[in-house]
Amino acid sequence: MAKRPGWLENAVFYEIYPQSFLDTNGDGVGDLNGITARLPYIRELGCTAVWINPCFASPFGDAGYDVSDYCRVAPRYGTNEDLVRLFSEAHRLGLHVLLDLVPGHTSWEHAWFRESMKAERNEFTDRYVWTDSIWEEPCGFGSLRGISERDGSCAVNFFTHQPALNYGFYRPERPWQQPMDSEGALATREALKDVMRFWLSRGCDGFRVDMAGSLVKNDEDGKGNIALWQDVRAFLDREFPHAAMISEWGEPQLSLAGGFHMDFLLHFGSSHYNDLFRCEAPFFEGNGDASAFVAKYADSCRRSEGRGLICIPSGNHDMDRLARHIHGDNRKLSFAFLLSMPGAPYIYYGDEIGMNYVEGLASVEGGYNRTGSRSPMQWDDSANAGFSDAPADELYIPIDPDTDRPTVQAQLGDASSLRSEVKRLIAVRQAHKALQSLGGIDFVCDGAKGKPLAYIRSSEGERIFVAVNPTDKTSELTVDGRFGDIVYRFGEDIALSGSRCTLGARSAVFAELL
Ligand code: BGC
Repeated sequence: MAKRPGWLENAVFYEIYPQSFLDTNGDGVGDLNGITARLPYIRELGCTAVWINPCFASPFGDAGYDVSDYCRVAPRYGTNEDLVRLFSEAHRLGLHVLLDLVPGHTSWEHAWFRESMKAERNEFTDRYVWTDSIWEEPCGFGSLRGISERDGSCAVNFFTHQPALNYGFYRPERPWQQPMDSEGALATREALKDVMRFWLSRGCDGFRVDMAGSLVKNDEDGKGNIALWQDVRAFLDREFPHAAMISEWGEPQLSLAGGFHMDFLLHFGSSHYNDLFRCEAPFFEGNGDASAFVAKYADSCRRSEGRGLICIPSGNHDMDRLARHIHGDNRKLSFAFLLSMPGAPYIYYGDEIGMNYVEGLASVEGGYNRTGSRSPMQWDDSANAGFSDAPADELYIPIDPDTDRPTVQAQLGDASSLRSEVKRLIAVRQAHKALQSLGGIDFVCDGAKGKPLAYIRSSEGERIFVAVNPTDKTSELTVDGRFGDIVYRFGEDIALSGSRCTLGARSAVFAELL
């Protein structure tokens, strides 16, 4: 198992989409100095770490997930020095910072790719996955062809302008498919380590790794990708043993074997995450069913060191805002769940105040339907909700036009606001090791239709019972053990006696178990 930075144990992350957080130079786009200025806000909420979406040089065809220079901050966000200042200011406040590492592909504008398109062999010829004839298509997401002097098609990983870097094939089947230990594939891997070295030596605390399971091709059971990441972890253990690594993989049993500390629960694939927050009848809206989620989650825990090192996000830049589907107090109940589960929770900027999905926007920088979840942070009631001094029509994405839109300013001073509830919940988590990342979890009730979700979290002799009931019916639960003190409650009609718990409609309770 990888060495684990101690701070991950009680980490609560705040995800920042830099374009939309705070614009300090009036160009309509958020910037690094804006993030630095608002670190105290994040600290005050109780978060201990931030993840910043890609902030590197890019033509922004995929909002920065199309990097053209991994070692240079995009000028619209500031300079490398601004980022280093952000790291030190975060550390001064006791926060840690993860950058977003996009190892699978670059922009087609990256200098490596331009060199790799040349007909004459050079250092970058094998940096990407190329077929050896323009008439042959690589498999996967499609290809980039007809724009190079070189005779060949280049595999892409996501959008057409994101050529796939070459880390080799686990089982090469065609002559142009290089093995993982070929010179070209190993050179790409070393280049990736150089990028990590560059930012870790300047104060970054680790990485959220984009599409981490997609690097080695023809690797159905993940063995090649696990081996690659184990090698990266060995490099980190030698040079940066405290670097934290969180994967976007969605397969914790594979990702942890590769040396990642935690893996994200994805909103696509087999996780059933959407059953909770984003489907026709989401569990947290009160009339859904969480049992398929629980079955899959419990199975993933069993298969990954017996621990739920699975990070469950409130949302992110790729999915609908939680508030689009979950309303009223059920949003608070959603956070009662998110902030009492194992693995580090991630709060997407603005979710703590219930920012909504902005409907009907034209796509911005490859956002498509994701654009509505990427609108500017709503700080206060001043122009542009306090996000920027630029004219409204020059903002990166328009502000939510709803006149009742939530703001930080309005919620800060209101003890009954969503933000105040989120802050309380983080404080409760911080006060109990059993509720934090590494504590165990045993389900008591699986949230099947009409039932609450209930589980016992445990660590070093401490056991905390958590029950969340978003339905409109009172529920009765019995546990093994005797209830002690209640450490958190929300809603009416909550009674604990002996080993019996009565949980009213739309309520939640966390209680010690003796
Ligand atoms: C990121 C997306 C991005 C894609 C390609 C995803 O997992 O979160 O925003 O478009 O990777 O890099």
